[in-house]
Amino acid sequence: MVEIRRMHIKDVSFVYDLEKTTFGFSLEKSMLYDEILYNEMAHYYIMTEHQQRIGYLGLWLTNPNAEIINIALVPEKQSQGYGKKLLEYAIKVCEENKVKTLTLEVRKSLTHVIEFYQSFGFKKIHERKRYYHDHEDAWLMAKEVNV
Ligand SMILES: CC(C)(COP(=O)(O)OP(=O)(O)OC[C@H]1O[C@@H](n2cnc3c(N)ncnc32)[C@H](O)[C@@H]1OP(=O)(O)O)[C@@H](O)C(=O)NCCC(=O)NCCS
Repeated sequence: MVEIRRMHIKDVSFVYDLEKTTFGFSLEKSMLYDEILYNEMAHYYIMTEHQQRIGYLGLWLTNPNAEIINIALVPEKQSQGYGKKLLEYAIKVCEENKVKTLTLEVRKSLTHVIEFYQSFGFKKIHERKRYYHDHEDAWLMAKEVNV
């Protein structure tokens, strides 16, 4: 059974490890703690299957807009529809919070991830040159939620 719940302090190590595995770097544990404990804009969620953590979603609700900070599944659970469920959940949270525009940044080279976002109606609105630490460009993508 798949569930999505708010992230707690006890999930920080899981998220840290997942970020390291999928992105090669992490927000760092201290920052993840701060996000959970002190940042009222931050809404982080954990996806579980049979109570095992399989993914997470980080959102910043900056009324009237919101940003996807990160979304990731453990490698063995990718490309099986779980990401769609997480993104649907993000959009539902935005709808409930009357968010108008949901944005995210994605590496230009991740064409399958870009297609994933496009399938949800995200559109490229800007290109951020040399945005990442390795100087890869980012696409800023946006989706209108409550119009
Ligand atoms: C990006 C990510 C969250 C998508 O979640 P997912 O569970 O793998 O994706 P889904 O199985 O729900 O697939 C949704 C759609 O995305 C596309 N897609 C996902 N993975 C794909 C892949 N490896 N190759 C091609 N298309 C892919 C497909 O269009 C798919 O639609 P379909 O099922 O109708 O074919 C997940 O692959 C992941 O964690 N990747 C590593 C971390 C990452 O890059 N995060 C994004 C940072 S911006």
